[in-house]
Amino acid sequence: MTRFKYKYLFYSLIPIFLYLLVFHPVITFLSSRGQPINSSFPITFYHKAYIDYRTNPPRLRLFSLNPCVKPNTYLLIDVYNRGSPIPNEVKLLGDPFGFFNENCPPVYGPATHCFYVPHTFYGVLPDNGIIEKATIRWEDREIEFAIEEIGKKYERGLTVCLQIVYYYSQWQNVILYIEAWRAQGATRFIVFYHSSTEDTKKVLDYYEKLGLIELRPWPNIGELSSNISPMYPKVDESVFIIATHMALQICSLEIKTSLGIVADFDEVMVPDKGTVLDHAMKEMTGKDIGALLFENTHVALTPNIYTNNYSGVRSLTFTDIFAPPKYIFNTSLIDICETHSPGKFLHKSTYTKMANGTVLHFRFNVKQIRAKIVRKSYRFFPNDTAGHIRNMHDTMNKIFENSPPAFSYKPIETLNKCIAKVKSDVCHSTGGICKAAMDNVTNWVYNTTEGLFTTGTRIIV
Ligand SMILES: *[C@@H]1O[C@H](CO)[C@@H](O)[C@H](O)[C@H]1NC(C)=O
Ligand SMILES: *[C@@H]1O[C@H](CO)[C@@H](O)[C@H](O)[C@H]1NC(C)=O
Ligand SMILES: *[C@@H]1O[C@H](CO)[C@@H](O)[C@H](O)[C@H]1NC(C)=O
Ligand SMILES: *[C@@H]1O[C@H](CO)[C@@H](O)[C@H](O)[C@H]1NC(C)=O
Ligand SMILES: *[C@@H]1O[C@H](CO)[C@@H](O)[C@H](O)[C@H]1NC(C)=O
Ligand SMILES: *[C@@H]1O[C@H](CO)[C@@H](O)[C@H](O)[C@H]1NC(C)=O
Repeated sequence: MTRFKYKYLFYSLIPIFLYLLVFHPVITFLSSRGQPINSSFPITFYHKAYIDYRTNPPRLRLFSLNPCVKPNTYLLIDVYNRGSPIPNEVKLLGDPFGFFNENCPPVYGPATHCFYVPHTFYGVLPDNGIIEKATIRWEDREIEFAIEEIGKKYERGLTVCLQIVYYYSQWQNVILYIEAWRAQGATRFIVFYHSSTEDTKKVLDYYEKLGLIELRPWPNIGELSSNISPMYPKVDESVFIIATHMALQICSLEIKTSLGIVADFDEVMVPDKGTVLDHAMKEMTGKDIGALLFENTHVALTPNIYTNNYSGVRSLTFTDIFAPPKYIFNTSLIDICETHSPGKFLHKSTYTKMANGTVLHFRFNVKQIRAKIVRKSYRFFPNDTAGHIRNMHDTMNKIFENSPPAFSYKPIETLNKCIAKVKSDVCHSTGGICKAAMDNVTNWVYNTTEGLFTTGTRIIV
């Protein structure tokens, strides 16, 4: 499952990043100082306004996709206190994120040429922040946001935010990783869903019915406001992957447990002993540790789980290939999540600590890479591995009525071929540019929920 293409690219491109970091002029879209964003700006919003009570006074946050803005560019939003018909006007300042915070355009190769960059807009709320309506009004349209209050209290536990499921995810991994995370103490799963094979969807639906995971729609972004859309690239064709960095922030804000993590369906964090939840609680509780960073270990299973046999969980092969770390964060301290490190904390005193553990990062092609094999004592399940293997086989047989479908490499190969063909000066907008090639391989179950992203409604005068 595997975004290995990107992960390898990441390392081979480091010299280019450094070059870009030093020499690439930061192009900003709005250049004059202190300019308010108006209706002519190519922007689309996630439909929720987050009222964040983790700071005092509370802040209002919006998420958007748009070209880079200068830090002093602002949005004006009307917020209505409960019971008051007269709004307060709040000024929100914009920040881009994704791969080296505050570099816009991003310096990460495949994201550099994307026209639309995920942004967050922040503003401090007046009074106690108890508001019931938030609206942006422009001369020709109005954008009303759903209000979501966050950060009032957190319960004990660990929530796993699964990065958007699209094309790649294999059902064999989904079973292994959900079971392993549960055994490691995960109490809740939020799974953003764009597309998958019918088989992978069956497995996700099974776990959703059991109440173990929450599927959240993440459809294509859709069009800009119709009066300006002909003048700009289509959002779905010029945004990195499918705006994965925006999904990551939204998930981290919506977590209701004191600890959270952002992972793919091929990554589980494990400590040297016990469960990762107990380990993180012991290390982090009551301290200013905002994130616990886990080194990344590539792991192969023999037999490969793509033979529909999970016995390989008993004998893991570890390699010494370097891959970027992942982290568990304290939900009440994190401000911005990047993919491999906490981007920003809410307070200056917060720091990151290395964990005594690793990310077990599943690789199906370790043999082809011919990496050096190393000895490590990590395992997926803290105890009773044989029982978990039996359970995974039972689960697979239940879902597929005793005839689990045979694995095909075709979808992965097709997507990797598609990505390899993309020119280096083109935005890697995989969801859009590889759709035709992927639709040619199998029937994908797409989510098509409407209204998740909004450009507002026209005001008829
Ligand atoms: C998270 O941070 C808060 C505030 O510093 C602290 O009180 C709490 O114990 C931490 N929680 C965990 C699970 O680390
Ligand atoms: C799974 O793999 C193990 C180890 O190679 C083997 O002993 C077992 O027979 C296999 N089970 C099935 C159902 O193929
Ligand atoms: C990790 O844990 C092991 C065993 O509990 C211990 O021997 C080792 O020193 C620890 N390493 C670190 C960096 O804390
Ligand atoms: C396995 O570990 C879990 C979590 O630590 C514990 O609750 C359970 O009792 C253990 N089971 C066995 C068989 O040791
Ligand atoms: C669809 O698949 C066929 C057979 O694999 C291939 O020849 C054709 O080029 C593919 N078309 C697209 C649009 O990828
Ligand atoms: C999209 O996902 C949501 C949430 O899982 C679900 O309720 C809805 O039925 C899905 N819709 C489509 C068209 O896939």
